[in-house]
Amino acid sequence: MRTQVAIVGAGPAGLLLSHLLWLDGIDSVVLETRSRDYVERRVRAGVCEHPTVELLREVGLAGRLEEEGLPHHGINLRFDGEDHRIALTDLTGREIVVYGQQEIVKDLIAARLAAGAEIHFEVSDVELHDVTGDSPRVTFKDSTGATQELRADVIAGCDGFHGVSRPSIPDGILRTYDHVYPFAWLGVLVKAPPSHEELIYTNHERGFALHSMRTPELTRLYLQVDPNDVLADWSDARIWDELHARLAVNGDFELHEGPIVERLLSPMRSFVVEPMRHGRLFLAGDSAHIVPPTGAKGMNLAVADVLALSRALKALLTDGRTDPVESYSDTCLRRVWRAEHFSYFMTTMLHRDYSADPFQHRLQLSQLRYTATSVAAATSLAENYVGLPFS
Ligand code: FAD
Ligand code: DHB
Repeated sequence: MRTQVAIVGAGPAGLLLSHLLWLDGIDSVVLETRSRDYVERRVRAGVCEHPTVELLREVGLAGRLEEEGLPHHGINLRFDGEDHRIALTDLTGREIVVYGQQEIVKDLIAARLAAGAEIHFEVSDVELHDVTGDSPRVTFKDSTGATQELRADVIAGCDGFHGVSRPSIPDGILRTYDHVYPFAWLGVLVKAPPSHEELIYTNHERGFALHSMRTPELTRLYLQVDPNDVLADWSDARIWDELHARLAVNGDFELHEGPIVERLLSPMRSFVVEPMRHGRLFLAGDSAHIVPPTGAKGMNLAVADVLALSRALKALLTDGRTDPVESYSDTCLRRVWRAEHFSYFMTTMLHRDYSADPFQHRLQLSQLRYTATSVAAATSLAENYVGLPFS
Protein backbone atom coordinates (compact mmCIF):
# COMPACT_ATOMS: atom_id res chain seq x y z
CA MET A 1 0.00 0.00 0.00
CA ARG A 2 1.15 3.55 -0.66
CA THR A 3 -0.20 6.93 0.38
CA GLN A 4 1.15 10.43 0.91
CA VAL A 5 0.46 10.62 4.66
CA ALA A 6 0.22 7.55 6.91
CA ILE A 7 -1.86 8.54 9.93
CA VAL A 8 -1.56 6.41 13.07
CA GLY A 9 -4.66 6.76 15.27
CA ALA A 10 -8.34 7.58 14.56
CA GLY A 11 -8.99 9.96 17.46
CA PRO A 12 -9.93 13.60 16.84
CA ALA A 13 -6.34 14.41 15.76
CA GLY A 14 -5.89 11.65 13.17
CA LEU A 15 -9.37 11.89 11.68
CA LEU A 16 -9.40 15.68 11.41
CA LEU A 17 -5.92 15.67 9.87
CA SER A 18 -7.12 13.19 7.24
CA HIS A 19 -10.10 15.46 6.45
CA LEU A 20 -7.98 18.66 6.24
CA LEU A 21 -5.44 16.94 3.96
CA TRP A 22 -8.24 15.68 1.72
CA LEU A 23 -9.52 19.25 1.33
CA ASP A 24 -6.01 20.16 0.19
CA GLY A 25 -5.92 17.28 -2.31
CA ILE A 26 -3.50 15.15 -0.26
CA ASP A 27 -4.08 11.40 0.21
CA SER A 28 -3.89 9.69 3.57
CA VAL A 29 -4.59 6.30 5.14
CA VAL A 30 -5.64 6.05 8.81
CA LEU A 31 -4.70 3.06 11.01
CA GLU A 32 -6.58 2.44 14.27
CA THR A 33 -6.19 -0.39 16.78
CA ARG A 34 -9.76 -0.16 18.13
CA SER A 35 -13.04 -0.88 16.36
CA ARG A 36 -15.17 1.86 14.81
CA ASP A 37 -17.85 1.20 17.42
CA TYR A 38 -15.35 1.58 20.27
CA VAL A 39 -13.93 4.93 19.14
CA GLU A 40 -17.42 6.27 18.46
CA ARG A 41 -18.56 5.40 21.99
CA ARG A 42 -15.51 6.50 23.98
CA VAL A 43 -16.85 9.31 26.21
CA ARG A 44 -14.23 11.97 26.86
CA ALA A 45 -14.06 15.70 26.20
CA GLY A 46 -17.07 17.95 26.07
CA VAL A 47 -15.94 21.54 25.64
CA CYS A 48 -15.12 22.89 22.19
CA GLU A 49 -13.25 26.18 22.15
CA HIS A 50 -14.37 28.99 19.88
CA PRO A 51 -11.50 28.50 17.37
CA THR A 52 -12.24 24.74 17.22
CA VAL A 53 -15.91 25.40 16.43
CA GLU A 54 -14.99 27.99 13.79
CA LEU A 55 -12.59 25.56 12.12
CA LEU A 56 -15.18 22.76 12.10
CA ARG A 57 -17.62 25.20 10.45
CA GLU A 58 -15.08 26.30 7.83
CA VAL A 59 -14.28 22.73 6.83
CA GLY A 60 -17.88 21.57 6.59
CA LEU A 61 -17.98 19.44 9.73
CA ALA A 62 -20.30 21.47 11.98
CA GLY A 63 -23.73 20.39 10.67
CA ARG A 64 -24.75 18.29 13.66
CA LEU A 65 -22.75 20.45 16.08
CA GLU A 66 -24.88 23.47 15.05
CA GLU A 67 -28.06 21.42 15.63
CA GLU A 68 -27.17 19.56 18.82
CA GLY A 69 -24.24 21.44 20.40
CA LEU A 70 -25.00 23.63 23.41
CA PRO A 71 -23.48 27.14 23.13
CA HIS A 72 -22.34 28.54 26.50
CA HIS A 73 -21.68 32.18 27.36
CA GLY A 74 -20.36 31.75 30.88
CA ILE A 75 -19.03 29.31 33.48
CA ASN A 76 -19.33 29.37 37.26
CA LEU A 77 -16.65 29.11 39.91
CA ARG A 78 -18.31 27.84 43.08
CA PHE A 79 -16.48 28.27 46.38
CA ASP A 80 -17.40 29.23 49.95
CA GLY A 81 -20.95 28.09 49.11
CA GLU A 82 -21.44 30.74 46.41
CA ASP A 83 -21.38 30.97 42.63
CA HIS A 84 -19.17 33.50 40.88
CA ARG A 85 -19.98 33.71 37.19
CA ILE A 86 -17.24 34.27 34.62
CA ALA A 87 -19.12 35.93 31.76
CA LEU A 88 -17.09 34.43 28.90
CA THR A 89 -18.92 36.17 26.06
CA ASP A 90 -19.26 39.58 27.73
CA LEU A 91 -15.54 39.50 28.52
CA THR A 92 -14.22 38.15 25.20
CA GLY A 93 -16.98 38.39 22.58
CA ARG A 94 -16.66 34.62 22.07
CA GLU A 95 -18.45 31.49 23.25
CA ILE A 96 -17.74 27.80 23.74
CA VAL A 97 -19.92 24.89 22.58
CA VAL A 98 -20.55 21.77 24.65
CA TYR A 99 -20.58 18.88 22.17
CA GLY A 100 -19.16 15.46 23.02
CA GLN A 101 -15.81 14.42 21.56
CA GLN A 102 -17.33 11.11 20.46
CA GLU A 103 -19.91 13.04 18.43
CA ILE A 104 -17.09 14.88 16.64
CA VAL A 105 -15.41 11.51 16.06
CA LYS A 106 -18.67 10.10 14.61
CA ASP A 107 -19.07 13.15 12.33
CA LEU A 108 -15.44 12.84 11.17
CA ILE A 109 -15.65 9.11 10.45
CA ALA A 110 -18.90 9.59 8.51
CA ALA A 111 -17.39 12.45 6.47
CA ARG A 112 -14.16 10.54 5.74
CA LEU A 113 -15.96 7.36 4.67
CA ALA A 114 -18.41 9.34 2.52
CA ALA A 115 -15.39 10.79 0.71
CA GLY A 116 -14.05 7.28 0.09
CA ALA A 117 -11.23 7.49 2.63
CA GLU A 118 -9.32 4.44 3.84
CA ILE A 119 -9.58 3.91 7.59
CA HIS A 120 -8.33 0.54 8.82
CA PHE A 121 -9.90 -0.29 12.18
CA GLU A 122 -8.82 -3.14 14.48
CA VAL A 123 -5.24 -3.24 13.25
CA SER A 124 -2.48 -4.63 15.50
CA ASP A 125 1.32 -4.82 15.80
CA VAL A 126 1.74 -1.32 14.36
CA GLU A 127 5.43 -0.48 13.81
CA LEU A 128 7.08 2.59 12.28
CA HIS A 129 10.21 2.24 10.10
CA ASP A 130 12.77 4.51 8.35
CA VAL A 131 11.26 7.73 9.72
CA THR A 132 14.48 9.67 9.13
CA GLY A 133 14.72 8.55 5.49
CA ASP A 134 12.76 9.73 2.42
CA SER A 135 10.30 6.83 2.36
CA PRO A 136 9.06 5.96 5.84
CA ARG A 137 6.89 2.86 6.29
CA VAL A 138 4.34 1.52 8.73
CA THR A 139 3.84 -2.23 9.11
CA PHE A 140 0.77 -3.68 10.81
CA LYS A 141 -1.61 -6.61 10.89
CA ASP A 142 -5.02 -5.82 9.44
CA SER A 143 -8.29 -6.95 11.06
CA THR A 144 -7.96 -10.39 9.42
CA GLY A 145 -4.47 -10.84 10.89
CA ALA A 146 -2.70 -10.40 7.51
CA THR A 147 0.59 -8.48 7.61
CA GLN A 148 0.51 -5.21 5.64
CA GLU A 149 3.00 -2.51 4.74
CA LEU A 150 2.02 1.11 4.21
CA ARG A 151 4.60 3.32 2.46
CA ALA A 152 4.24 7.08 2.70
CA ASP A 153 5.97 10.43 2.28
CA VAL A 154 5.42 11.25 5.94
CA ILE A 155 3.90 9.64 9.04
CA ALA A 156 1.58 11.51 11.43
CA GLY A 157 1.68 10.04 14.95
CA CYS A 158 -1.85 10.78 16.20
CA ASP A 159 -2.10 7.70 18.42
CA GLY A 160 -2.58 9.35 21.79
CA PHE A 161 -0.57 9.12 24.98
CA HIS A 162 -0.26 5.30 24.95
CA GLY A 163 0.44 4.91 21.24
CA VAL A 164 3.57 3.61 19.43
CA SER A 165 4.67 6.76 17.58
CA ARG A 166 6.35 8.64 20.41
CA PRO A 167 8.11 5.54 21.85
CA SER A 168 9.42 4.66 18.38
CA ILE A 169 11.66 7.77 18.48
CA PRO A 170 15.13 6.71 19.73
CA ASP A 171 16.31 7.75 23.20
CA GLY A 172 18.13 11.05 23.38
CA ILE A 173 16.07 12.85 20.70
CA LEU A 174 13.10 14.05 22.74
CA ARG A 175 13.12 16.21 25.83
CA THR A 176 10.32 15.25 28.21
CA TYR A 177 8.51 17.47 30.73
CA ASP A 178 6.28 15.57 33.13
CA HIS A 179 4.23 16.58 36.18
CA VAL A 180 1.90 14.23 38.04
CA TYR A 181 -0.84 15.63 40.31
CA PRO A 182 -1.91 14.03 43.60
CA PHE A 183 -5.51 13.54 42.39
CA ALA A 184 -7.59 11.83 39.72
CA TRP A 185 -11.05 12.44 38.23
CA LEU A 186 -14.00 10.14 38.56
CA GLY A 187 -16.37 11.04 35.70
CA VAL A 188 -19.98 9.90 35.37
CA LEU A 189 -22.54 10.29 32.63
CA VAL A 190 -26.03 10.48 34.13
CA LYS A 191 -29.43 10.09 32.50
CA ALA A 192 -30.94 13.25 34.03
CA PRO A 193 -31.40 16.83 32.84
CA PRO A 194 -28.54 19.17 33.84
CA SER A 195 -29.10 20.85 37.22
CA HIS A 196 -27.87 24.24 35.98
CA GLU A 197 -27.71 25.76 32.50
CA GLU A 198 -23.93 26.33 32.78
CA LEU A 199 -20.79 24.48 33.84
CA ILE A 200 -19.94 24.74 37.55
CA TYR A 201 -16.33 24.28 38.73
CA THR A 202 -16.37 23.80 42.51
CA ASN A 203 -13.60 24.10 45.07
CA HIS A 204 -14.92 22.43 48.23
CA GLU A 205 -13.11 21.25 51.36
CA ARG A 206 -13.99 17.67 50.40
CA GLY A 207 -12.41 18.18 46.97
CA PHE A 208 -13.15 19.47 43.48
CA ALA A 209 -16.41 18.74 41.65
CA LEU A 210 -17.58 19.72 38.15
CA HIS A 211 -21.10 19.93 36.81
CA SER A 212 -21.27 19.69 33.02
CA MET A 213 -23.65 18.23 30.45
CA ARG A 214 -23.94 16.63 27.05
CA THR A 215 -27.58 17.18 26.04
CA PRO A 216 -30.74 18.53 27.72
CA GLU A 217 -31.27 14.94 28.97
CA LEU A 218 -27.69 13.95 29.90
CA THR A 219 -25.60 15.36 32.73
CA ARG A 220 -21.82 14.92 32.99
CA LEU A 221 -20.32 15.14 36.48
CA TYR A 222 -16.77 14.81 37.80
CA LEU A 223 -15.29 14.36 41.28
CA GLN A 224 -11.71 14.77 42.46
CA VAL A 225 -10.67 11.39 43.90
CA ASP A 226 -7.48 9.83 45.21
CA PRO A 227 -5.20 8.69 42.34
CA ASN A 228 -4.99 5.21 43.93
CA ASP A 229 -8.77 4.75 43.96
CA VAL A 230 -10.39 2.16 41.70
CA LEU A 231 -13.96 2.31 40.35
CA ALA A 232 -15.02 -0.41 42.81
CA ASP A 233 -14.29 2.05 45.66
CA TRP A 234 -17.09 4.28 44.39
CA SER A 235 -20.61 2.91 44.77
CA ASP A 236 -23.44 4.95 43.25
CA ALA A 237 -24.51 6.02 46.76
CA ARG A 238 -21.01 7.28 47.59
CA ILE A 239 -20.77 9.17 44.29
CA TRP A 240 -24.11 10.93 44.90
CA ASP A 241 -23.26 11.74 48.55
CA GLU A 242 -20.02 13.41 47.47
CA LEU A 243 -21.62 15.27 44.58
CA HIS A 244 -24.39 16.61 46.81
CA ALA A 245 -21.93 17.67 49.50
CA ARG A 246 -19.42 19.34 47.18
CA LEU A 247 -21.94 21.06 44.91
CA ALA A 248 -24.02 22.42 47.82
CA VAL A 249 -24.55 26.17 47.69
CA ASN A 250 -26.15 28.80 49.91
CA GLY A 251 -29.69 29.19 48.62
CA ASP A 252 -31.30 27.04 45.97
CA PHE A 253 -29.48 24.29 44.12
CA GLU A 254 -31.01 20.95 43.40
CA LEU A 255 -28.69 18.32 41.92
CA HIS A 256 -30.75 16.07 39.65
CA GLU A 257 -30.02 12.38 40.15
CA GLY A 258 -30.53 9.66 37.56
CA PRO A 259 -29.07 6.34 36.43
CA ILE A 260 -25.30 6.41 35.89
CA VAL A 261 -24.82 5.13 32.34
CA GLU A 262 -21.04 5.45 32.03
CA ARG A 263 -18.15 5.99 34.44
CA LEU A 264 -14.38 6.45 34.16
CA LEU A 265 -11.34 7.17 36.29
CA SER A 266 -8.75 9.46 34.76
CA PRO A 267 -5.33 10.21 36.26
CA MET A 268 -4.16 13.81 36.05
CA ARG A 269 -0.83 14.74 34.57
CA SER A 270 0.93 17.36 32.52
CA PHE A 271 3.32 16.02 29.89
CA VAL A 272 5.12 17.56 26.91
CA VAL A 273 7.79 16.26 24.55
CA GLU A 274 9.96 18.53 22.45
CA PRO A 275 10.34 18.60 19.51
CA MET A 276 7.10 17.25 18.07
CA ARG A 277 8.91 15.95 15.00
CA HIS A 278 11.63 13.43 14.21
CA GLY A 279 12.60 13.27 10.53
CA ARG A 280 9.42 12.46 8.62
CA LEU A 281 7.44 11.53 11.73
CA PHE A 282 5.21 14.30 13.11
CA LEU A 283 3.53 13.95 16.51
CA ALA A 284 0.14 15.62 17.06
CA GLY A 285 -2.35 15.74 19.94
CA ASP A 286 -2.05 13.54 23.03
CA SER A 287 0.86 11.59 21.54
CA ALA A 288 2.99 14.71 22.13
CA HIS A 289 1.34 16.35 25.15
CA ILE A 290 -1.16 15.79 27.93
CA VAL A 291 -2.92 18.39 30.07
CA PRO A 292 -4.98 17.75 33.20
CA PRO A 293 -8.63 18.02 32.09
CA THR A 294 -9.62 20.99 34.31
CA GLY A 295 -9.02 23.57 31.58
CA ALA A 296 -10.83 21.49 28.89
CA LYS A 297 -7.88 21.93 26.53
CA GLY A 298 -6.73 18.43 25.40
CA MET A 299 -8.92 17.88 22.36
CA ASN A 300 -8.71 21.55 21.40
CA LEU A 301 -4.91 21.35 21.36
CA ALA A 302 -5.11 18.26 19.16
CA VAL A 303 -7.22 20.29 16.70
CA ALA A 304 -4.72 23.19 16.72
CA ASP A 305 -1.81 20.78 16.10
CA VAL A 306 -3.38 19.11 13.08
CA LEU A 307 -4.39 22.43 11.54
CA ALA A 308 -0.72 23.50 11.72
CA LEU A 309 0.37 20.07 10.44
CA SER A 310 -2.02 20.08 7.48
CA ARG A 311 -0.74 23.51 6.43
CA ALA A 312 2.89 22.38 6.77
CA LEU A 313 2.28 19.16 4.84
CA LYS A 314 0.47 21.00 2.06
CA ALA A 315 3.47 23.31 1.68
CA LEU A 316 5.83 20.30 1.63
CA LEU A 317 3.89 17.85 -0.52
CA THR A 318 2.21 20.24 -2.95
CA ASP A 319 4.61 23.18 -3.22
CA GLY A 320 7.91 21.56 -2.14
CA ARG A 321 8.40 24.22 0.55
CA THR A 322 10.09 22.97 3.74
CA ASP A 323 9.91 26.04 6.04
CA PRO A 324 6.46 25.28 7.53
CA VAL A 325 7.53 21.69 8.26
CA GLU A 326 10.74 22.93 9.90
CA SER A 327 8.76 25.30 12.14
CA TYR A 328 5.85 22.88 12.84
CA SER A 329 7.08 21.91 16.30
CA ASP A 330 7.83 25.47 17.46
CA THR A 331 4.48 26.71 16.11
CA CYS A 332 2.57 24.07 18.06
CA LEU A 333 4.62 24.25 21.23
CA ARG A 334 3.87 27.95 21.74
CA ARG A 335 0.16 27.12 22.03
CA VAL A 336 0.84 23.88 23.92
CA TRP A 337 2.77 25.66 26.68
CA ARG A 338 0.07 28.32 27.06
CA ALA A 339 -2.51 25.55 27.47
CA GLU A 340 -0.21 23.67 29.84
CA HIS A 341 0.02 26.72 32.05
CA PHE A 342 -3.70 27.43 31.92
CA SER A 343 -4.58 23.82 32.74
CA TYR A 344 -2.09 23.81 35.63
CA PHE A 345 -3.56 27.10 36.87
CA MET A 346 -7.15 25.81 36.76
CA THR A 347 -6.18 22.49 38.32
CA THR A 348 -4.20 23.92 41.22
CA MET A 349 -6.75 26.66 41.87
CA LEU A 350 -9.71 24.29 42.02
CA HIS A 351 -8.48 21.02 43.59
CA ARG A 352 -7.75 20.35 47.26
CA ASP A 353 -4.18 19.21 47.74
CA TYR A 354 -4.26 17.51 51.14
CA SER A 355 -0.46 17.56 51.34
CA ALA A 356 -0.45 21.37 51.05
CA ASP A 357 -0.01 23.49 54.17
CA PRO A 358 -2.66 25.98 55.42
CA PHE A 359 -0.66 28.86 53.93
CA GLN A 360 -0.99 27.36 50.43
CA HIS A 361 -4.69 26.83 50.97
CA ARG A 362 -5.17 30.51 51.86
CA LEU A 363 -3.30 31.49 48.68
CA GLN A 364 -5.63 29.25 46.66
CA LEU A 365 -8.74 30.92 48.07
CA SER A 366 -7.23 34.34 47.49
CA GLN A 367 -6.57 33.43 43.84
CA LEU A 368 -10.14 32.18 43.42
CA ARG A 369 -11.60 35.33 44.92
CA TYR A 370 -9.37 37.57 42.82
CA THR A 371 -10.26 35.66 39.63
CA ALA A 372 -13.96 35.92 40.43
CA THR A 373 -14.01 39.61 41.36
CA SER A 374 -11.39 41.34 39.20
CA VAL A 375 -12.43 42.08 35.61
CA ALA A 376 -8.78 41.83 34.55
CA ALA A 377 -8.30 38.41 36.17
CA ALA A 378 -11.66 37.09 34.95
CA THR A 379 -10.87 38.28 31.42
CA SER A 380 -7.56 36.44 31.50
CA LEU A 381 -9.32 33.22 32.52
CA ALA A 382 -12.06 33.78 29.93
CA GLU A 383 -9.75 34.42 26.96
CA ASN A 384 -7.78 31.26 27.71
CA TYR A 385 -10.96 29.23 28.30
CA VAL A 386 -12.70 30.24 25.04
CA GLY A 387 -9.40 29.64 23.23
CA LEU A 388 -6.76 32.00 21.87
CA PRO A 389 -6.93 32.44 18.08
CA PHE A 390 -5.10 29.85 15.95
CA SER A 391 -1.89 31.38 14.57
P1 FAD B 1 -6.88 10.09 21.26
O1 FAD B 1 -8.25 10.61 21.35
O2 FAD B 1 -6.31 9.35 22.43
O3 FAD B 1 -6.80 9.18 19.96
C1 FAD B 1 -5.70 8.33 19.70
C2 FAD B 1 -6.20 7.15 18.91
O4 FAD B 1 -5.08 6.32 18.56
C3 FAD B 1 -7.16 6.26 19.70
O5 FAD B 1 -8.31 6.02 18.94
C4 FAD B 1 -6.36 5.00 19.98
O6 FAD B 1 -7.19 3.86 20.05
C5 FAD B 1 -5.44 4.95 18.77
N1 FAD B 1 -4.20 4.20 18.96
C6 FAD B 1 -3.48 4.02 20.10
N2 FAD B 1 -2.40 3.27 19.85
C7 FAD B 1 -2.43 2.96 18.54
C8 FAD B 1 -1.57 2.23 17.68
N3 FAD B 1 -0.47 1.63 18.16
N4 FAD B 1 -1.88 2.13 16.39
C9 FAD B 1 -3.00 2.74 15.88
N5 FAD B 1 -3.85 3.45 16.65
C10 FAD B 1 -3.57 3.56 17.96
N6 FAD B 1 -10.19 17.85 26.01
C11 FAD B 1 -10.84 18.99 25.67
O7 FAD B 1 -10.40 19.69 24.76
N7 FAD B 1 -11.98 19.42 26.31
C12 FAD B 1 -12.51 18.72 27.34
O8 FAD B 1 -13.57 19.09 27.86
C13 FAD B 1 -11.82 17.52 27.77
N8 FAD B 1 -12.30 16.78 28.78
C14 FAD B 1 -11.71 15.58 29.07
C15 FAD B 1 -12.25 14.82 30.08
C16 FAD B 1 -11.67 13.59 30.40
C17 FAD B 1 -12.24 12.80 31.54
C18 FAD B 1 -10.57 13.09 29.65
C19 FAD B 1 -9.96 11.72 29.94
C20 FAD B 1 -10.02 13.85 28.62
C21 FAD B 1 -10.58 15.09 28.33
N9 FAD B 1 -10.07 15.89 27.32
C22 FAD B 1 -10.66 17.09 27.03
C23 FAD B 1 -8.87 15.46 26.56
C24 FAD B 1 -9.19 14.84 25.20
O9 FAD B 1 -10.12 13.78 25.33
C25 FAD B 1 -7.90 14.35 24.51
O10 FAD B 1 -6.93 15.37 24.57
C26 FAD B 1 -8.15 13.95 23.05
O11 FAD B 1 -8.78 12.70 22.97
C27 FAD B 1 -6.84 13.88 22.24
O12 FAD B 1 -7.10 13.45 20.93
P2 FAD B 1 -6.02 12.61 20.12
O13 FAD B 1 -6.64 12.31 18.81
O14 FAD B 1 -4.71 13.27 20.18
O15 FAD B 1 -5.84 11.27 20.97
C1 DHB C 1 -15.96 18.63 30.58
C2 DHB C 1 -14.67 18.18 30.73
C3 DHB C 1 -13.71 19.05 31.20
O1 DHB C 1 -12.44 18.64 31.34
C4 DHB C 1 -14.03 20.36 31.54
O2 DHB C 1 -13.08 21.19 32.03
C5 DHB C 1 -15.33 20.80 31.38
C6 DHB C 1 -16.30 19.93 30.89
C7 DHB C 1 -16.99 17.68 30.07
O3 DHB C 1 -16.65 16.52 29.86
O4 DHB C 1 -18.14 18.10 29.90
